[in-house]
Amino acid sequence: MSPSTIRILDNKGEEIKTVGFKRFGFDCEVPVDDLRALYLRPHYSSNSEDESGKAKVANSDHAAFTKGTDAYQSQAIYDPTNKSISYTTLTRFPPVKLLPPSERKRILVTGGAGFVGSHLVDRLMLLGHEVTVLDNFFTGSKTTVSHWVGHPNFEMVRHDVVEPFMIECDQIYHLACPASPPHYQYNAVKTIKTSFMGTLNMLGLAKRTKARFLISSTSEVYGDPEVHPQPEDYWGHVNPIGPRACYDEGKRVAETLTYGFHRQDGVDVRVVRIFNTYGPRMNPYDGRVVSNFIVQALKGEDLTVYGDGKQTRSFQYVHDLIDGMIALMNSDETRPVNIGNGDEFSIGEFAELVREIVEKVQDEDGVKPARRCEVIYKDLPTDDPKQRRPDNTRARQTLDWAPRWTVRMGLEEMVRYYKAKMEEGSL
Ligand SMILES: NC(=O)c1ccc[n+]([C@@H]2O[C@H](COP(=O)([O-])OP(=O)(O)OC[C@H]3O[C@@H](n4cnc5c(N)ncnc54)[C@H](O)[C@@H]3O)[C@@H](O)[C@H]2O)c1
Repeated sequence: MSPSTIRILDNKGEEIKTVGFKRFGFDCEVPVDDLRALYLRPHYSSNSEDESGKAKVANSDHAAFTKGTDAYQSQAIYDPTNKSISYTTLTRFPPVKLLPPSERKRILVTGGAGFVGSHLVDRLMLLGHEVTVLDNFFTGSKTTVSHWVGHPNFEMVRHDVVEPFMIECDQIYHLACPASPPHYQYNAVKTIKTSFMGTLNMLGLAKRTKARFLISSTSEVYGDPEVHPQPEDYWGHVNPIGPRACYDEGKRVAETLTYGFHRQDGVDVRVVRIFNTYGPRMNPYDGRVVSNFIVQALKGEDLTVYGDGKQTRSFQYVHDLIDGMIALMNSDETRPVNIGNGDEFSIGEFAELVREIVEKVQDEDGVKPARRCEVIYKDLPTDDPKQRRPDNTRARQTLDWAPRWTVRMGLEEMVRYYKAKMEEGSL
């Protein structure tokens, strides 16, 4: 089945055709297919030998997203014989809204080449804003936003937020920070520096330019919570010296700093506490549970669950998160706001669900796996929280935001994304 023919149904059974809402008080709606065209497509079209087969199908899928205008994407032509790749330049960019100068904002996105950042950049670009990405490419990659390079509204800067940075801007989305445990534990001291000094530098910039500042905080500020689900008023239960502390405490101090600048210097701040999020462009090997399970199941390997599988998590799809972040940035809410999906799964149940969805997608595509994957259990890492679920009351009341993507719908799209990457040989 072609991804472009799949209907996406929300948790009320209605079809999702757009993301972003007019009801947020300003127009931020974008057709889902315009976004999907930017990620759910083959990255590499194979060399000419293959042109008659798979590549043709993949290209026609892509054409369906872009409504026949293939020219919106550069092509990367892979030659399996020489194991070489040749990139073509873009002939045309995806169409973006034409905003009057009074509505067009200059927006800085730190960490904009990462998983969440790149989806935010796509959305802000399609909405017609001027976007500057600031990234040191520690965990992010230029390829996540390469489809915008050269666009007059887009700029990309290689820079480490630990060093000061000057630019004129109206809004700052400060996301720069590694988010997966293996990445943030790789150099714990650097993670703390990024959280503290990076946030200090970006708040200094917000103070100077009078830009509105949004920081991506995390549900990790609640640690291993004693309150369930977690409302924003809960102060958390964090081990300050454990292996996860560099990230958890880093984000806590980043929030403290944010409110320090708010109270002392009148900086206009927004704080989003993001709960587990997944979606296309997630690094498949960064140890996060969703990508781990999908890649293992697609490769026909057993799915590894750490602990007894009874610890619970909730997972939100990236488009819901971006809706929430944009709504918060443009609202008057200066208190922290949880953005996450409250549908809770035990990790064991979740592994079974991923296996079922991978089997369903393989079945639809006529693929017969060699064997059925098993779910296997290994020791739990230190300080792994047992339960985590957002209390979304504040987001609902102040932003009129609620998640729409069911875990099943999001997972199906994610499975198709990784499957396409495996087929083209890039995973
Ligand atoms: N994905 C989630 O589930 C989740 C959950 C909670 C919070 N968050 C927060 O959202 C933000 C983005 O997370 P993500 O999942 O996209 O992670 P990611 O690792 O994909 O993206 C982080 C980006 O920041 C860049 N970066 C890291 N250190 C930097 C530095 N010192 N200077 C400049 N750039 C730097 C990386 O290169 C990368 O592009 C992070 O702040 C993270 O803490 C994410």
